[in-house]
Amino acid sequence: MKAYVVEAFGPPESLALKDVVPADVPAGHVRLNVKAAGASLLDALISGGKYQVKPPLPFTPGSEFSGVVDAVADDVTTLRPGDRVMAGGFVGGFAQTAVVPAAAAIPIPASMSFETAAGFRTNYSTALHAFRQRANLQPGETILILGAAGGVGSAGIEIGKIMGAKVIAVASSEEKRAFAVKLGADHAMSAEPEAFRDQIKTLTNGRGVDVVYDPVGGALTELAFRSLAWRGRHLVVGFAAGAIPSLPVNLALLKGAALVGVDLARFSFMHEPKVAAENLKQLIAWFEAGQLKPQIGRIYPFAQAREALADILARRAVGKAVVKVSD
Ligand SMILES: NC(=O)c1ccc[n+]([C@@H]2O[C@H](COP(=O)([O-])OP(=O)(O)OC[C@H]3O[C@@H](n4cnc5c(N)ncnc54)[C@H](OP(=O)(O)O)[C@@H]3O)[C@@H](O)[C@H]2O)c1
Repeated sequence: MKAYVVEAFGPPESLALKDVVPADVPAGHVRLNVKAAGASLLDALISGGKYQVKPPLPFTPGSEFSGVVDAVADDVTTLRPGDRVMAGGFVGGFAQTAVVPAAAAIPIPASMSFETAAGFRTNYSTALHAFRQRANLQPGETILILGAAGGVGSAGIEIGKIMGAKVIAVASSEEKRAFAVKLGADHAMSAEPEAFRDQIKTLTNGRGVDVVYDPVGGALTELAFRSLAWRGRHLVVGFAAGAIPSLPVNLALLKGAALVGVDLARFSFMHEPKVAAENLKQLIAWFEAGQLKPQIGRIYPFAQAREALADILARRAVGKAVVKVSD
């Protein structure tokens, strides 16, 4: 089978497309014929050796994917060959087959395409975990979403609206702001630091926002924290801008505010797997009820997986980038 392989950390063009012997299926695991793989900044960062966790080399990138179960270990009773599933973890999706723990392969509804399933779990689960378990978001509150046209940001818009919040989306171009509004954002504003706080003051009648959802970091973090209302919560989700910011901690005191970490992987796989599974059940139910409408951006043929990661790194992606691995 064919698989992309990171032999040395580097930019997307350094990924090698190779013939690889499919892995055995150990106890507790299943093997999938991969149909589609989501492409994300996380995948680009992991492949480049720029993420906080570095897998041992060589490895196949692709943290989220979908496919059909092809083989199951003798002790697996929950899945059968032919089942349609979404799966994920950290790596492995940019390949024609992938072996995953059975617990990480989640059956998908008949109405969900493989392309949608390939990008469904991570972004929506991050947003729901952030708002429900970490921010205790209440209906009527106002959320400021940074990087709002990106993967986790755009999921934040949809989940925030379902939970009854008012959403202010921040994005760097007209095209991205229009996309955020189409997804349901009540307002969209630019990311330029100069006018940043004034725009939020105007949109909130001087009050500030209750929750900041921050997958970007860099210079915007402190500006956003300073725009919190009394008892605000600033959700630390990621650092797409590269720089990990710091904050004068007196700001938290003055606003009765909290800086709250969000880590989907630790939440789902280490500390609270049952709560994470309940969240995912809720997300699939919202999808089936037509409340979540995942926006696929560009679908790249398998041969162009490198371009998908390069577009994400260049901030060209709008909507979820998906690599179609097989028909
Ligand atoms: N905490 C968690 O559990 C969790 C889960 C999933 C992802 N993440 C993290 O969240 C971050 C965003 O992931 P994503 O998949 O949403 O990425 P994405 O789709 O590429 O979106 C990131 C957004 O950040 C903005 N941005 C600002 N400066 C940027 C830069 N220098 N390079 C790239 N983007 C920049 C871009 O919006 P504008 O062009 O509009 O500024 C872009 O749309 C990553 O750091 C990822 O690792 C965390």
